[in-house]
Amino acid sequence: MLQLLERKPIASLLHEQGGGPTLRRVMGAGDLIMLAIGAVIGAGIFSSIGTAAAGETLPTGEVVRYGAGPALVLSFLLLGLVCGLAALCYAELASMIPQAGSAYAYSYATLGELVAWIIGWDLILEYAVGNIAVAIAWSGYFNSLLGGFGIHLPAYLTHGYRTALLSSDPSVHALLETAPRIAGIPLLLNVPAFVIVALVTAVLYVGVRESVRANNIMVVVKLAVLALFVGIGALHVNPDNFVPFAPNGWRGIHQGAAIIFFAYIGFDAISTAAEETRDPQRNMPIGILGGLAVCTLIYVIVGIVATGLVPYQQLKASDPLAQALQIAGLKTAGAIVAAGAVVSLTAVLLVFQYGQPRIFFAMARDGLLPPWAARVHPRFRTPHVTTMLTGVAVAAGALFMDENEIYDLTNIGTLTAFAIVCVGVMVLRRTDPDRPRPFRVPLLPLVAIPGALACVYVMYGLPRPAWERFAIWLVVGLMVYAAYGYRHSRLRAKAKATTLPMRPTSG
Ligand code: ALA
Repeated sequence: MLQLLERKPIASLLHEQGGGPTLRRVMGAGDLIMLAIGAVIGAGIFSSIGTAAAGETLPTGEVVRYGAGPALVLSFLLLGLVCGLAALCYAELASMIPQAGSAYAYSYATLGELVAWIIGWDLILEYAVGNIAVAIAWSGYFNSLLGGFGIHLPAYLTHGYRTALLSSDPSVHALLETAPRIAGIPLLLNVPAFVIVALVTAVLYVGVRESVRANNIMVVVKLAVLALFVGIGALHVNPDNFVPFAPNGWRGIHQGAAIIFFAYIGFDAISTAAEETRDPQRNMPIGILGGLAVCTLIYVIVGIVATGLVPYQQLKASDPLAQALQIAGLKTAGAIVAAGAVVSLTAVLLVFQYGQPRIFFAMARDGLLPPWAARVHPRFRTPHVTTMLTGVAVAAGALFMDENEIYDLTNIGTLTAFAIVCVGVMVLRRTDPDRPRPFRVPLLPLVAIPGALACVYVMYGLPRPAWERFAIWLVVGLMVYAAYGYRHSRLRAKAKATTLPMRPTSG
């Protein structure tokens, strides 16, 4: 049992970094803010905003979740606070342990192997599973864009089976009856979502370098398209749409926050730049909190305009922002926003599809996954096996799944990882107090404890099926660990070799 709590010495994590020349400290607070915007703004604001505002009801009339209505702005503010607390904790650990796999590596050093495994397993929800939702959102805007040119793909090739099954939109739900059938099963496939994942996978297989320049271009596109939405939309806001402000009270605001949390995912990524940041003690918190503040502000403004343009119920669409403009009669603006969303969501897909194989890589290097997961392509120098595996799994999921179910699962997994990181930073202060911390969370318990509790509170706003699926996910993960990682862990093998003679009955 004790062996499950075996912790990886931080020195060895740093050694894995190469121990060679250190990275250049070139980034200032402004660069970190740009990095945050690049990683964060995506499907959450472009797509899940519809369900967060309008709620979700099954075709049977059963309410899955209550929507926030125009009070969605309060959901955004709540999340800005929650993510701010968690992100500060990430920053302390990231500055001590700058390594690929972020939360996975931190927890290995603080809370032991079993928790690290659980986090690594949760990160699959954040990265790979989350990308299924981003691909479906991409498809929604891509179809909207094609529609602007008068091109309409058959509906059964742009909606996955689960989406048709769960949709309360009668025309979408009817696809279950009207779609062509193969062996009696309705053919309902989100083909554009599949194709974009396949293309992104091909690009990553061959290898792309993330560059600051490319990121900056993306940030400009995202900001320009959201600025257009706000600028034109604001002129057509109808104040009547803001009444009632909170149609489902706090319950709607809470449940809206639980799904729109997706819009904040990716914040953890900027903490990994700690080692490349000038004066991290000053610039990290400014970058993280500044980035969060900028994104929260953008989200609040977009939220106000979106819920002011049309009655909030009408935001329930696969392309809510474009749809809102179109309903308000602003067709050209709607088409431009759709085009901008397609570009922005492609960038988010790339970032997460790039990240997942590298987490697998870190886990395989520790012996928790088979060695083939750490294989690197001889010519392209990419983790090609896991890149392909991730691509196939995400593309297949994107064909059939429902976006909202995926948001829920991703959010519950990511919030769990956030909460564990908040606890981890406190543990490490006790167990390893003297290790240099380029960045220290000020007033730690006042940040980390409310941070962990707040993450759990947001999770509590997710519907019951999300909890059930998450429980199944964890059980499967533990089974995989028992069947493989437990036996092959490099760290445990080493620990066993040194401790077994003294404790022959332990474990
Ligand atoms: N925050 C990212 C998005 O909204 C994951 O797409």
